[in-house]
Amino acid sequence: MRDILPEESEGMSRIEDAAKQCLHSFGYSELRLPLIESTALFERGVGDGTDIVEKEMFNIDSRDGEPLSLRPEGTAGCVRAAIQHGLAFNRISRLWYRGPMFRYERPQKGRYRQFEQIGAEAFGIAKPALDAELIDINHQLFARLGVDEHMKLRINTIGSFAERRTYVEALRAHLESNRDALDADSLRRLERSPLRILDSKHSETRAVIANAPKIEDFLDADSMHHFEQVLEHLQSLGIGFEIDPYLVRGLDYYTHTVFEFETKQLGAQGAVSAGGRYDGLVEGLGGRAAPGAGFAIGIDRLLLLCQSVNTEQASPRSSLLYCVATDEDSLKAMMSIGNQLRKDLAGVPVVVDTQGGKLGTQMRRADREGARWTIIAGESERAEGVLTLKPMREVGEQSRLKYDALVLRLLEAHGGLS
Ligand code: HAM
Repeated sequence: MRDILPEESEGMSRIEDAAKQCLHSFGYSELRLPLIESTALFERGVGDGTDIVEKEMFNIDSRDGEPLSLRPEGTAGCVRAAIQHGLAFNRISRLWYRGPMFRYERPQKGRYRQFEQIGAEAFGIAKPALDAELIDINHQLFARLGVDEHMKLRINTIGSFAERRTYVEALRAHLESNRDALDADSLRRLERSPLRILDSKHSETRAVIANAPKIEDFLDADSMHHFEQVLEHLQSLGIGFEIDPYLVRGLDYYTHTVFEFETKQLGAQGAVSAGGRYDGLVEGLGGRAAPGAGFAIGIDRLLLLCQSVNTEQASPRSSLLYCVATDEDSLKAMMSIGNQLRKDLAGVPVVVDTQGGKLGTQMRRADREGARWTIIAGESERAEGVLTLKPMREVGEQSRLKYDALVLRLLEAHGGLS
């Protein structure tokens, strides 16, 4: 597992704040969930034949012998909590959560063993407008972060559990009769999760898949209608999409709509957000039947995308004010001035150099910290009741200003700074 250093964590917080605001603006409320749940929850929820449960869970030996796991995703825990606290039965709930998820994978850029997700789940709404709303939340957030142009929405329907069962039988029969052309991974999946073979990147397997039966031929009128309605809503919201009949997702709980937002900017780890409907999951985990749907955004990947296309997200502390004092009395005054600046320029980071030393040394530190402005106080400033303001990142003379004028100058120069 990796450490997240300040260069990354600042961008990450900004993205999380934007996501949080976006979710609140759609009326979703936060649920804080445990990081550890019983292993059985994920076996029943995510599915014991899935890669996540079979190969990727961090399992813990608890003292009382109950098998526990670090959560590999948030939906199962969210549904468990919704059942336990009566948030899913006979009512509508719109919930969101965030935090680390854990999967035992081979780490590489964009794929980590501990990664951050922000997810949302809504219970009690069976209508297709909800599926479209969940996609819209993603769309709004990506637009806000300036990355919507780099994102492609793929969408599919995988029908009800019953429809899928019939489809899977037909698919398995087709794949069985073309066994010889399947790659080793697909052969391994043939028994337990033939649907996942549709994801295969192997070229001979892809040729077999191209002639395989399609899920849409196994859907009844209601399922087709649901999907068509979702697409109509997306069109009316102005959200572009591509129907991908091979998008099946690697978790067992989905029914009907499934979707993924993908980018080309991140190579193989291009899936930034994913979700769908899961109308059987609440009942499957022991609650009274209730429809549900949701999504989760991978924050680590969203940050990588912002960094690769959007320099603003990538330049941390662009508004930092660095305060320097050249003697002990000036430092005492500066620590109070720092507090006043934090109030008057809310949102702007203000660092007071508490280490002190020669002016030149402190100025070098200010530069290394990436300060945009330095504010200097020494004996002569104190005698005159002014502060020296020095721009660090743009051309311009330094000036000696009274406090109020200095705040005005900073506000004017940067339209609010942050
Ligand atoms: P998921 O597709 O497994 O779905 O994960 C959602 C997102 O989490 C991915 O698109 C990706 O951005 C990020 N992610 C997954 N694994 C990693 C990893 N190892 N490193 C970095 N990022 C990763 C779910 O988790 C479902 N619970 C989504 C959902 C919610 N469906 C309905 N409600």
